[in-house]
Amino acid sequence: MESITTSNYIIFFNENCYIELNNFLRKTDFSKIFILVDTNTHEHCLPYFLSQLETENVIEIIEIKAGEIHKNIETCAGVWNALSELDADRKSLIINVGGGVVTDLGGFVASTFKRGIKYINVPTSLLSMVDASVGGKTGVDLGTLKNQIGVINFSEMVLIDTQFLNTLPTKEINSGMAEMLKHGLIQDEAYWKKMANVKAEDYKNFDTLIYESVVIKNNIVLQDPNENGLRKTLNYGHTLGHAIESYFLLDRDKPTLLHGEAIAIGMILATYLSKKLFNFPEEKLDFIKKILIHNYGKITFKKHDYKNIIELLKFDKKNSHGNINFVLLEDIAKTKIDCIVTNELILESFEFYST
Ligand code: GLY
Repeated sequence: MESITTSNYIIFFNENCYIELNNFLRKTDFSKIFILVDTNTHEHCLPYFLSQLETENVIEIIEIKAGEIHKNIETCAGVWNALSELDADRKSLIINVGGGVVTDLGGFVASTFKRGIKYINVPTSLLSMVDASVGGKTGVDLGTLKNQIGVINFSEMVLIDTQFLNTLPTKEINSGMAEMLKHGLIQDEAYWKKMANVKAEDYKNFDTLIYESVVIKNNIVLQDPNENGLRKTLNYGHTLGHAIESYFLLDRDKPTLLHGEAIAIGMILATYLSKKLFNFPEEKLDFIKKILIHNYGKITFKKHDYKNIIELLKFDKKNSHGNINFVLLEDIAKTKIDCIVTNELILESFEFYST
């Protein structure tokens, strides 16, 4: 697959990843290479990744615990301390080998250690391949509030080796697919229709779909890297989706929701709001609901959950001047940003989801 050039770095695919990485390491005089993994990618991805590396440089491995609950500043402090103890300096390189938690957190650690060192993302989850590792967003959660702390700072390169998908449970593939479905809804109806027919079990045939998804995301980031306008559309379904994800993380009695599972609910709610406020076509709304519930199941909410989730919306990063700013759709691929929605309508959208 052709590489994708962004304004700051290049995204390489499959066998090209290691050719380009090894060239880069030969050309650049890094003092040391640090590879950040989590407990899962240490076991399932690191041995293969190391087998592809051709470098005489010293390599140190730093491991963090796997899981969203460890995507916090305490884990960053652990990694900063490890870097310091292992004599990292400003000419060191961090390679993040993992899913969204590792690439987001590792990018943030690199961006802040000694005021910033270079880093490379090697996404191993579908979610991180099509979203988290592309576009320079780095950061961690604050308590259960998603991605509240972070900076936009681009990696040196992104290496997407779809072989790593073989290491994932189907549930994780399904979660990543939510972001691909979102790319279709906000940018490309033909892509949405294609994705609507895809099953997580078919992930071995996903290469072209992943490529198309990264192209959609990259085109948006190229036009608006700092999220002043267009990039906000990538948050479709995320306003309520993030609040739902945080709420489920907070409550031990709730099932664990993967990011994509929460975003799928958020997309159904946002599409309902789009119909109410912008006349989004009803038959498309029904189809979107059908596909997303088929792929992600239906979560049962209690009445008091709605109020608590709405309360969490005040922490959404797109908010400004006290307003909660939703991304909505006039139609598939026709986005509207900075939309204000009443709580009554949000409650109605939950009723629509639940019936
Ligand atoms: N994940 C949304 C963005 O990168 O803007």
